[in-house]
Amino acid sequence: MCLDNFFTGRRDNVRHLLDYSRFELLRHDVCEPLLLEVDQIYNLACPASPVHYQYNPIKTVKSNVIGTLNMLVLARRVSARILQASTSEVYGEPHVHPQTERYWGNVNPIGLRACYDEGKRVAETLMMDYHRQNKVDIRIARIFNTYGPRMAESDGRVVSNFIVQALRRERLTLYGDGSQTRSFCYVDDLVEGLIRLMNADGLHHPVNLGNPGEFSIHQLAEIIVELCGAELEIEYQPLPQDDPTQRRPDITRAQQLLGWQPTVPLRQGLERTVPYFAQRLTRSGGHQAKHSGRLAPAGDIPVERRRAYSEAADWTDRHQF
Ligand SMILES: NC(=O)c1ccc[n+]([C@@H]2O[C@H](COP(=O)([O-])OP(=O)(O)OC[C@H]3O[C@@H](n4cnc5c(N)ncnc54)[C@H](O)[C@@H]3O)[C@@H](O)[C@H]2O)c1
Repeated sequence: MCLDNFFTGRRDNVRHLLDYSRFELLRHDVCEPLLLEVDQIYNLACPASPVHYQYNPIKTVKSNVIGTLNMLVLARRVSARILQASTSEVYGEPHVHPQTERYWGNVNPIGLRACYDEGKRVAETLMMDYHRQNKVDIRIARIFNTYGPRMAESDGRVVSNFIVQALRRERLTLYGDGSQTRSFCYVDDLVEGLIRLMNADGLHHPVNLGNPGEFSIHQLAEIIVELCGAELEIEYQPLPQDDPTQRRPDITRAQQLLGWQPTVPLRQGLERTVPYFAQRLTRSGGHQAKHSGRLAPAGDIPVERRRAYSEAADWTDRHQF
């Protein structure tokens, strides 16, 4: 059963699964309670890129807090195991490098990113408390930057932004001086890690899932323009507030307890991702179109998606949370 309110997700992403008799797609917002017969719950519901999670930050907090609470209530009622998609953002601007699960993080609780970072931190708290208080069988995955086919091209994430701009022969928009680092995990590796974590016994503490290969944003830009056959032209913009300068997972725990580590190096993953975006841009007729300014400003969020994230339809508002 696949649940989505289609704020950032698209029906097209699962169209190839719709004909399977054992696959069900439900439009549902996790901020609303629900009851289903399930054995396992993967709670991934939350916009994940700044442009989307900052579009309606209150709703982002609700998706993380009330959404996770609803999924925990469901897990408790039907005795299901539940896995929470947490994030490397719980480490904030880290004072420890690379980040191990024992590090508690350095997060600005009142900044523009707090709706996501602190929302995910509270979600982890709820998971641990439901486990301690109600014996719910929980798993927490701290996911580091993940990319791959089926990402939205207007998502505002660095990989999709760079690929789309390079394919359109535009200058790449680079925030900061490009020396800030990130670790990029190919989606297939992450999915394998999530499944292993879900099915491992007795692992109730957070586990980092990410690719420890660390690249500066400038290096990422160089690889992408090369794969797109473009010239490296960069437009530098100021670094957004609270943008972390370093990110690299310590995945010792996942290696030891899950026997997991990423198998797809960055260049190889990008080689699989670029053709996906090229195909999408060709279909939408936007391959060579010039596009000025920053990709994916909030105003570009299509009306039907804005509706999915509007306040009006929210049960939580009707009940004055
Ligand atoms: N991709 C990454 O780099 C990354 C890194 C760390 C954590 N994560 C986490 O992994 C999860 C999936 O991320 P993704 O990259 O696939 O992002 P995504 O935006 O592609 O997927 C999130 C999905 O959740 C849905 N959604 C959002 N709010 C919802 C709500 N209230 N009710 C029901 N559905 C809702 C969206 O429509 C979308 O389909 C998120 O929880 C994200 O925070 C992702």
